[in-house]
Amino acid sequence: MTVERELFSSRLGFILAAAGSAVGIGNLVGFPVNAAKNGGGAFLLVYALFVILVCLPVMMAEMAIGRKTVKNPVGAYNALSNNSKLWSVAGIFGMLTPFMIAVFYMVITVWIMGYMVMAATGNLDHLASGAAFGEFINSYYVFGAMAIVVAIVGVILLSGVKEGIEKAAKTLMPALFVMLVLLVAFVLTRDNAFAGLRFFLIPDIDKLNPSVINSALSQAFFSLSLGMGILITYGSYIDRRTDIVGSAKLVAITDTGVAFTAGLMMLPAVFSFNPEVNPQELSDSSVSLIFTFLPKIFLALQTSIGYVGASAVAVVFFTLVFFAAITSLVSIIEVPVAYLVDEKCHSRKKALTTLLMTAGILTLFATVSFGMVPFFTEFVHYAGAPKSFFDIIYDVFYDTILPLNGFLLCLFVSYRWRKANLSAELAVGNDKYQGSWIEKYVNLSLSTFIPVILLAIFLNTVAQKFFAYNLLGL
Ligand code: PHE
Repeated sequence: MTVERELFSSRLGFILAAAGSAVGIGNLVGFPVNAAKNGGGAFLLVYALFVILVCLPVMMAEMAIGRKTVKNPVGAYNALSNNSKLWSVAGIFGMLTPFMIAVFYMVITVWIMGYMVMAATGNLDHLASGAAFGEFINSYYVFGAMAIVVAIVGVILLSGVKEGIEKAAKTLMPALFVMLVLLVAFVLTRDNAFAGLRFFLIPDIDKLNPSVINSALSQAFFSLSLGMGILITYGSYIDRRTDIVGSAKLVAITDTGVAFTAGLMMLPAVFSFNPEVNPQELSDSSVSLIFTFLPKIFLALQTSIGYVGASAVAVVFFTLVFFAAITSLVSIIEVPVAYLVDEKCHSRKKALTTLLMTAGILTLFATVSFGMVPFFTEFVHYAGAPKSFFDIIYDVFYDTILPLNGFLLCLFVSYRWRKANLSAELAVGNDKYQGSWIEKYVNLSLSTFIPVILLAIFLNTVAQKFFAYNLLGL
């Protein structure tokens, strides 16, 4: 069955959809926490350099591969390598990674939805009590919330690229920007907000060490949705007039801008709640920050703006994160959908049903691995501790595998597809590209130091996560 492939309706539609994928929980929570813990302005600088020097060329290459082949990652690697067995492995990684990320991202999105609803129904005081999170994730409500999230994502994806993905991004992204700006404006008028700003912005060079640099790059890669096959797939939906180089820059600017703005909201909020806080003590995981720490901050607002006002702020915050999570979830599930449609000739509907069922079952296993079902809660054992089903998916697919996928992509475009072909594709829609210094930089970096950096980060992350050993010596 060959159905005409849908395209995004405009460059703006594509940019918003790609930015919708990129802007997620990683920007709103992961980035501010990382920045505060790892040297404030110094971290921001390293992060910005990585975005420009390492991530942008990779992003352009992913989009170019997608548009050139008009295919999903598996089909794209096969098409450009004449069905080489070796390279098909990279394609399979590019498809399996998003599938598995979808599983744990879905779990977190379900919790966010639960919190949004509970804050809106007057339960902020309960959320702020220490026990609420553990209770909620082990209650049967999660299954109801999961059914709703699956339905929302299903409806968006079933409506297709233009009417589904693009329309959702065009509605949710502007709403997200407005909510973010409102929250920043509100937070900055609180007492002590300035202490948080100082922590976020003033560089503390002493904190910079190889581990921080590693985490800046991992954060940037995850945040820009690289190494997940998403930008290959979205690239396959753009027309040949669209300038990939300019679009990639705008996506990176939007993503980094939102992450930076989220820092202007989170850290002043944390400090106005407790001026003595030491960011080093902020929880390691962004997840527990959202679900256990923030509700306390929101509740504390009741002394100045009343319980209803405090609940309203909490609702705006959780809605903001929920919107960001939905557009990311949509993008990640679209990758295996495109695979089944392109390679297995499924209709969109059949592909979606297959996927939501298979990913849905794994998500259920992950959902019950927080204590509900002991088998999944203590699923495996590594790095000296028992790990749940959720943990292992998170550890393998959250950030470990992304630099590996990026590394394979760099080798692929430089040495198999070849730089001249990449240049030719990037020049479509941008007549000034060929001969420009950007072209020279992209070709040089992708074939030399970017893959070396990505491989080093991959090996170090594996050593750290699975063997509790830091190769960087710190
Ligand atoms: N860029 C997203 C974020 O920061 C990462 C992501 C994309 C996660 C797509 C899941 C799906 O949260």
